[in-house]
Amino acid sequence: MLELDRISKRFGRVTVAEELSLSVRHGDAVGVVGPNGAGKTSLFGMISGDLAPDAGEVRFDGRRVTALDASVRCRLGIGRTYQVPRPFTGLSVFENVLVAAQQGAGTRGRASYALAAEVLAGTGLADLAGRPAGRLGLLQRKRLELARALATRPRLLLLDEVAGGLTDPEVAELVALITAARARDGLAVIWIEHVVRALTATVDRLICLAGGRVVGDGRPLEVLATPAVREVFLGTEASADALTEVERDA
Ligand SMILES: Nc1ncnc2c1ncn2[C@@H]1O[C@H](COP(=O)(O)OP(=O)(O)OP(=O)(O)O)[C@@H](O)[C@H]1O
Ligand SMILES: [Mg+2]
Repeated sequence: MLELDRISKRFGRVTVAEELSLSVRHGDAVGVVGPNGAGKTSLFGMISGDLAPDAGEVRFDGRRVTALDASVRCRLGIGRTYQVPRPFTGLSVFENVLVAAQQGAGTRGRASYALAAEVLAGTGLADLAGRPAGRLGLLQRKRLELARALATRPRLLLLDEVAGGLTDPEVAELVALITAARARDGLAVIWIEHVVRALTATVDRLICLAGGRVVGDGRPLEVLATPAVREVFLGTEASADALTEVERDA
């Protein structure tokens, strides 16, 4: 479904992707981990069309999308959330999701309302439909970010740290929403997350990025156990804790 073919990207002296190749199939659930600044969010930018690679190609359903805008890629079925949620703060929760249903999924009229209502119900936001998005708590903002992405009717959903800053029970709720969305819509998901535990509960494949390169790709616990991945992970205390937790659970 998605193929990245030797994409490279630099910001001055910082390399965020170095001849990076990757492929994801329909219905896959792939986690992405890596230290801060590894190039994870930049990778999403190059998949979604927010960021142009310096070299290489992005293909979706066998079609080259490298030169297409984010709005066009969204219509083709690539939906994403942002690490820092970007709702229209002055609009209500419902209106935010409605905009995504119209602009992203291309629905009109009654179909837009029906899609927005369905997504709100599915993400547990129906009771908050009338609330201004600027007046939501953190978990609700994360839910709305997920709802907005789902309302674009993606076939490939890119999640950028949707679990960050949440408590364990809140993370579990979010994981359940994502699992339900996958079961319902058969979506492929690529999920960047520092909360490794949330990932290992959801994904069957884990990719570790560091310095714009893939340093691990495979079954989650096996990837986390490889020396190259341990080396980049143990660099940060939070990640080391996460790793210990996951191993304890396993
Ligand atoms: N638009 C930009 N202009 C200049 N440098 C950028 C830009 N976007 C990202 N960078 C730099 O590229 C590197 C990778 O950034 P990126 O956001 O992709 O990392 P990340 O893996 O998502 O990190 P984090 O875990 O902190 O979210 C960082 O050093 C960042 O400062
Ligand atoms: Mg990031």
